[in-house]
Amino acid sequence: MEFTELIKERYSVRGYKPDPIEDEKLLEVLEAARLAPTAANLQPFQLIVVHTEGRKEELRRIYKRDWFLQAPLIIVACGIPSKAWVRRDESNYGVVDVAIVMDHIILAAANLGLGTCWIGAFDPQATREILKLPEGVDPIVMTPLGYPDAPSKPKERKALDELVRYENW
Ligand SMILES: Cc1cc2nc3c(=O)[nH]c(=O)nc-3n(C[C@H](O)[C@H](O)[C@H](O)COP(=O)(O)O)c2cc1C
Repeated sequence: MEFTELIKERYSVRGYKPDPIEDEKLLEVLEAARLAPTAANLQPFQLIVVHTEGRKEELRRIYKRDWFLQAPLIIVACGIPSKAWVRRDESNYGVVDVAIVMDHIILAAANLGLGTCWIGAFDPQATREILKLPEGVDPIVMTPLGYPDAPSKPKERKALDELVRYENW
């Protein structure tokens, strides 16, 4: 899809068909994640691809929405802060890196006709337990990945002049 069209077409999909995702499509999505830029190219992230089939009850503890479990896959993007670039004022850029990785995933998926929805409101402790995350690995954001079964809504966004200033504040 043409890029401008792609960013207009992408939306948060909150309903999925159970149809499986072709291996080539999943690989294309993961490859887009791999190519994402990260601060100092440190790539301080790990992705966990989770099949929902047969695990719905335990996965419900992570995020309690029926549509979350309808998709055949969930991709969980984790950060490893100890491996991320840290600015002189001690700002750790790991979360920024993971967000960029997830945006690549989400746009690549939309380009293939697949639906996603950023999920930040998950239960981090349940995620740690169920996915057996080791110390030092933080779940940052996740998304279901599947064929959409819910319509888009009109985009509600602030006007550009409410969001952009020129030259200084
Ligand atoms: C960092 C982040 C976290 C989000 N967390 C959730 C979430 O936990 N649950 C949810 O339903 N949507 C979540 N969203 C989706 C937003 O609500 C959605 O992107 C926004 O309302 C704009 O709608 P659109 O994605 O359809 O354009 C999140 C989005 C972002 C960027």
